[in-house]
Amino acid sequence: MFHESRSKSVNLYNVCAAARWTWLMFMCIIIIFLNGVKGRGLLRLRPCMDDVTLKMTSRKIIVVDGSGSGKYYYKYIQDAIDSIPDGNQDWVVIHVNKGIYREKVRIGREKSHIFLRGSGRTKTAIFWSQTSENNYHSSTFKVEANDFIAFGISFKNEAPTGIANSWHNQSVAAYVGGDRVAFYSCGFYSSHNTLLDHQGRHYYDRCYIQGAIDVIFGHARSVFHECEIFVVADKRIEIQGSVTGHGGSCSKDEKTGFVFLKGRIYGIGEAFLGRPRGEHSRVVFANTYMSKTVRPQGWTDWNHHGSLKNVYHGEYKCHGPGSSMEGRAPWLHKLTAQQAAPYLSTDFIHGKQWLLA
Ligand SMILES: *[C@@H]1O[C@H](CO)[C@@H](O)[C@H](O)[C@H]1NC(C)=O
Repeated sequence: MFHESRSKSVNLYNVCAAARWTWLMFMCIIIIFLNGVKGRGLLRLRPCMDDVTLKMTSRKIIVVDGSGSGKYYYKYIQDAIDSIPDGNQDWVVIHVNKGIYREKVRIGREKSHIFLRGSGRTKTAIFWSQTSENNYHSSTFKVEANDFIAFGISFKNEAPTGIANSWHNQSVAAYVGGDRVAFYSCGFYSSHNTLLDHQGRHYYDRCYIQGAIDVIFGHARSVFHECEIFVVADKRIEIQGSVTGHGGSCSKDEKTGFVFLKGRIYGIGEAFLGRPRGEHSRVVFANTYMSKTVRPQGWTDWNHHGSLKNVYHGEYKCHGPGSSMEGRAPWLHKLTAQQAAPYLSTDFIHGKQWLLA
């Protein structure tokens, strides 16, 4: 009797252990399914910023907290930046605790290798409100240094929309003028000229960018990977909204351009995908969702006084109600797989040479 009950309890233990193991394996499979390999699964729980942080050698961490509490904490982001010596060559992490930081921030040429890390783009933000006839001067955030990374932080120019059709009221949220600059999970907000992607090679990954006319403009060479662009059209202006206004005024050999991969374009009102702001303007959208906010014509030459001969506007395998190629502007390049190939990876910005994630 005793023997029998004992053997029963052993069996029960085995059953429990087996159930536990099955449960554990089931959970592992679920996690792998949701997160995927290298974070390419359904939920993409990719700890990409840990990847970045780990890949940085000799890193130093500076913490910014809006309350200024914590013995070694800075209250302002600019003070943290200024504390880094000029000519710095080692990665420095500036971690910005959650909160809204009301200050203008500039990272000058001499401050390279800064990793500005927020607590998430809906938690940490830099706000300023200024319009100017000069885009650069109006900008809330400026990075002029090479080798800069930002993660999980938003940049906003809160200025109300200025006078329609005037050049007096530029209100840029961020100016990006350094080379090898990457933004991960960041936000950019303004009602006009939001992101001045001025020059250099840049990577924007899973960012949210909101604006009206020339949401993204400048002469840079950039890849926007899985970014969301939200256009709030300005009805007072003829074209109402335009996602891009790529410059490309210099020679063709410079190979600048904006490339959008797998993102989403949507918004309120109507918008064009782009307008040329230079003779060699180049913009490509690939595998991108376009809502009905995108006009059938897609592209406009509004205010462009030069020739369209060297303008390169292309689309490849986009989807959604705004993606129909019927009725598109005559200069649009409907790309074949072969023509699209140079634009479908970060090779366009030589990413393998410098991207950490
Ligand atoms: C637009 O610019 C004009 C001229 O500089 C200025 O008077 C006006 O206050 C600006 N509007 C806004 C919303 O900043």
